[in-house]
Amino acid sequence: MRIEPFGLERWFAAYEHEAEIMLAESGIRSLAADRFDLDPGVLDYVIPTNGDPEFRASVGDRYGRSADEVLFTCGTQEANFLAFLSLLGEEGAIGEDGVGSGSHAVVVTPTYQALHSVPEAFGEVTRVELAAPDWTLDPDAVADAVREDTAVVVVNNPNNPTGRNHAEATMRAVYDVAVDHDAYLLCDEVYRLLAESPRPPVASFGAHGISTTSLTKAYGLAGLRFGWIAGPEAVVDRAWRWKDYTTISPSLFGQHVAKQALGRRENQILAENRDLARDHRKRVADWIDRLGLDWHEPVGVNGFITVPDGFSDAESFCRTVVEEESVVLAPGGLFGFPDRFRLGFGLPTDELEEGLVRVRRVIRDHGGP
Ligand SMILES: Cc1ncc(COP(=O)(O)O)c(C=O)c1O
Repeated sequence: MRIEPFGLERWFAAYEHEAEIMLAESGIRSLAADRFDLDPGVLDYVIPTNGDPEFRASVGDRYGRSADEVLFTCGTQEANFLAFLSLLGEEGAIGEDGVGSGSHAVVVTPTYQALHSVPEAFGEVTRVELAAPDWTLDPDAVADAVREDTAVVVVNNPNNPTGRNHAEATMRAVYDVAVDHDAYLLCDEVYRLLAESPRPPVASFGAHGISTTSLTKAYGLAGLRFGWIAGPEAVVDRAWRWKDYTTISPSLFGQHVAKQALGRRENQILAENRDLARDHRKRVADWIDRLGLDWHEPVGVNGFITVPDGFSDAESFCRTVVEEESVVLAPGGLFGFPDRFRLGFGLPTDELEEGLVRVRRVIRDHGGP
């Protein structure tokens, strides 16, 4: 087994610590810890180790699923990892009637690297590319890529890095492809609740739907490391068996604060975060217009923007920006598109404004408008 180094994390490791402005973070700015009660009592494991049953039941309600169809994890990253291990890393079908057998995955790209590199480590991957410039997803292309040994189709909706939010009808058409081929559809929905009108989650579509998510991006609570898998009990059970070997239980602090964030404060937190995302999206859209650049106006707080003239590719542009102005952007080559860069606009407003001024200065100094 071989795992590709995580390109974006390695890029951040090289620059993020020293740089003054981080304009490549993909989530909304973090909330202050003192908004929450931070005392969970004694510092034990979470017991049972798949998460508080009552809390799992209330999370399951969001999908029309039971407590046993939810596993709490350390972020979406662990949720995806355990799901892929369960779906691709073991022999034999998971569900009844042979559902989920095989070690092949169809992954819709460009996307967050973990969603194709981890399946590639455990099995074989066929990619289906979203069509630029609007990053449309073609269910027929997914149907063409699916094989007899496909265990899972993987989509990230809304998508990182493009910000494309596929319509419910499109996602249902992809779900039908998975059903027709005895495969599961796994959707990473970590940005879902940043949308003004969130799409229904895939785990609510039926027996073949698996949703993964966390409180990281839409809630601004990355430090909790709290997420989950919601889906068929057979998949969730198998993921729990693997979790015994990764993190045993979710974080107790994470669960304690997550209960508050998903309780009566939830609407307030999400409204604040969507307001920030809307305001910042407009500021970035104006900036892009002034510079004559292009993007698909995104849901969430990531824009996938064309590289300005005067630079050979995104990597040379992003290196120049960090070296001359101490601002970190993400080169699109890390997502397979060297003519784009990803700009994250979820950070505090004054930092965003300062970052945009600095990047514009680099573009101007290299012959741009
Ligand atoms: C699509 C996607 N999934 C998962 C993650 C990781 O999220 P978490 O902090 O919940 O592990 C990210 C982070 O950028 C992401 O963009």
